[in-house]
Amino acid sequence: MKILAIVASKHLGNTRKIAEAMAEVAPITIADMNEAANYSFADYDIVGFGGGIYAGSHDRKLIKFAEGFNDKPVYTFVFSTSGTGKETYNNALIKALEGTNKKVLGSFTCKGLDKFFILKLFGGTNKGKPDEQDFKNAKIFILDVMKKYHEDN
Ligand SMILES: Cc1cc2nc3c(=O)[nH]c(=O)nc-3n(C[C@H](O)[C@H](O)[C@H](O)COP(=O)(O)O)c2cc1C
Repeated sequence: MKILAIVASKHLGNTRKIAEAMAEVAPITIADMNEAANYSFADYDIVGFGGGIYAGSHDRKLIKFAEGFNDKPVYTFVFSTSGTGKETYNNALIKALEGTNKKVLGSFTCKGLDKFFILKLFGGTNKGKPDEQDFKNAKIFILDVMKKYHEDN
């Protein structure tokens, strides 16, 4: 089993920390979105897409990348961190992947420290997030993704 996680985590590295927690229990290679094209996707069983949420959406480049993701493998998952932790933020990425006939095995989201604009003056909101509980949830999530993959193969 080999998993690639493509991550766009440009604000504070919050989402990358989630990917790193997953990598503690799963065979994950973490790739920055800007270097993703250097990877041979067919070498992986599952490719995940994750990132922070900026103005209501994952980084547009990440969504565009998902929309054009016609390579193997067909199994994917999505994740995000955001100020509000809203689950619906993952929908655009899910739609993009399903549009290229990918199977989305799971969707993970949690809150992340947010120092956007005026919030910076107060040290940001969601201090300490993502936290230990989020990392634990992320690990449970990726184990479940792998279980679903095995059930299908
Ligand atoms: C420019 C900008 C815009 C943001 N817009 C939103 C938003 O629309 N909704 C939200 O819940 N959080 C928003 N946030 C908070 C980030 O999604 C949050 O801090 C996230 O954890 C950043 O992830 P990263 O460190 O992996 O980039 C925004 C942050 C920045 C810097």
